[in-house]
Amino acid sequence: MRIAILGSGYVGLVSGTCFAHLGHRVTCLDNDVAKIDTLRAGRMPIFEPGLAPLVKQNAAAGRLDFSTDIAGAVESADVIFIAVGTPPTASGAADLSYIEAVSRIIAQHLKRYKVIVEKSTVPVQTGERVRQTIRKYVRRNVPFDVCSNPEFLREGSAVQDFLHPDRLVLGVESRRAERLLRQLYKPLDAEIVITDIKSAELIKHASNSFLALKISYINAVANVCELAGANVVEVARGMGMDSRIGSRFLSAGLGYGGSCFPKDVEAFAKISAELGAPFPLLEEVQRINSDQRRRFVQKIEKELWVLKGKTVAVLGLSFKPNTDDVRDAPAIAICRELISKGAQVRAYDPRAAGKARMLLPDVHLCDSAYQAIRGADCLALCTEWEEFHRLDLGRVRRLMSHPTVVDGRNFFDPEAMRKRGFTYVSMGRA
Ligand code: UDX
Repeated sequence: MRIAILGSGYVGLVSGTCFAHLGHRVTCLDNDVAKIDTLRAGRMPIFEPGLAPLVKQNAAAGRLDFSTDIAGAVESADVIFIAVGTPPTASGAADLSYIEAVSRIIAQHLKRYKVIVEKSTVPVQTGERVRQTIRKYVRRNVPFDVCSNPEFLREGSAVQDFLHPDRLVLGVESRRAERLLRQLYKPLDAEIVITDIKSAELIKHASNSFLALKISYINAVANVCELAGANVVEVARGMGMDSRIGSRFLSAGLGYGGSCFPKDVEAFAKISAELGAPFPLLEEVQRINSDQRRRFVQKIEKELWVLKGKTVAVLGLSFKPNTDDVRDAPAIAICRELISKGAQVRAYDPRAAGKARMLLPDVHLCDSAYQAIRGADCLALCTEWEEFHRLDLGRVRRLMSHPTVVDGRNFFDPEAMRKRGFTYVSMGRA
């Protein structure tokens, strides 16, 4: 089947590449010429494990190409995926202007039946707007269907998540569209939820917001644990063994960041209020989450007494491991707060330094963890990159001016750290 992916960001590029890997003929479109040139040159605009070889292999096989010619791609495609950004507006509601723009362009180039699929995360009822827009601008009464097919790709494991989904959600309005999408995804042999468009749109917002809620819940429990003298890692372990709760997304620490949870929770709260169903629980999820960053800086300040003039080594800048993405990463806010309090900040991240550079002009970005740690009064662990488990703690201790570690992700073992002579503080572990 011929597929056009409108928007070649984290979602569009991974989805398009994986559709090609399933045997389809895919064109990934973007209005960012530099990005398309990068992709055509075989280089990746984003870091995503396993993506580069898949792009290379499918482009070489002639199943995948990159273009800025949206008209040509729309005319030749059987299925058009809308994967453009839906960034937050100043009010926090989703900015749907890119969705509206591509809907108009699609309409202007529709000459035969096509399925137009919302892949971007959108507020409920957006599909209706897309259909109305295409109906309004389509040149002749060409038949088409609009569908919702939200993605559940996690950065750092997006290729795996696409090829091995827990479920596919297909919000459809006709049997014809359902058949076509089932055929498209057939090679995945995955569980499929067939529903209406609005329910599919809500499954996405409700799922992401629930995951964020789970994280804020365990962080609120962590704060109780600290005062009670309990260990949140043990509490989470005991909770997670209940199959109704599950052990995932119960890791206490600096909380969530990234381009999805913060945006989706905010957009879900906004659309709910607009519909007449205010959702204060989501506001509390956001409050708890942003409070974790403040608490972390407080912990550092408590250990150093005065931050002014002190050197803090920050390990990890990306919002989670195995990605170069620093959007709304806790580490970025933490570095800024430390600097505003007069500290010198040295930082290291295996992948994200390039994207962090423009956000943190006053931070000394180092090429290794040891270089960042040298002479530091405190080591602040912000992102749990696997490679930090291989740090020689004896060398770390020797390099630091004082062996104080404040661990934002409960990454190190408290006993091991204390045995090595570190002053060690973590999140929710007395
Ligand atoms: C998320 C959703 O998981 C995915 O389904 C959706 O399509 C996009 O948004 P992503 O944001 O890429 O994916 O990463 P995820 O692994 O979900 O982590 C999100 C944030 O939560 C990260 O900052 C991570 O550090 C944090 N997190 C995650 C916790 O703080 N504790 C946890 O237990 C799990």
